[in-house]
Amino acid sequence: MEKTFLMVKPDGVQRGLIGEIVARFEKKGYKLVAAKLMVISQELAEKHYAEHKERPFFGELVDFITSGPVFAMVWEGENVIATARQMMGKTNPADAAPGTIRGDFGITVGKNVIHGSDSPESAEREIGLFFSSEEIASFDKLT
Ligand code: CMP
Repeated sequence: MEKTFLMVKPDGVQRGLIGEIVARFEKKGYKLVAAKLMVISQELAEKHYAEHKERPFFGELVDFITSGPVFAMVWEGENVIATARQMMGKTNPADAAPGTIRGDFGITVGKNVIHGSDSPESAEREIGLFFSSEEIASFDKLT
């Protein structure tokens, strides 16, 4: 079954949005198979955002994502990578439709509440950066 990596960013955690965000994906029908509250190290942040290394905002991005606890998660379900991106809305909350997470809760592109993998390759890479295979639960025996 398809899996994706989602992360409530420091702004979302600080504003008490973990429950609201988890509830949206649960109500949609996806399964939470791993989760942890953690402070990301500089090293992990640089690996996670490696594709943005040359961007002018890279330093700001790393400083922000390491500035406080994040809530890292793995979600499972059919087409979860693309659907989670739709539920999150556009990267810049100014362009994100109402009803999406960023459209409802975000204002600026830096503090945009949530991160989600953008492809199967990113999902595999990001899940591997944040979780060991033992930390990922299986619902297979229940279905
Ligand atoms: P995310 O999905 O976590 O992936 C990369 C992040 O870079 C993106 O969300 C934004 O929060 C951030 N980002 C994109 N553009 C800018 C920008 N111009 N200034 C600061 N952060 C940005």
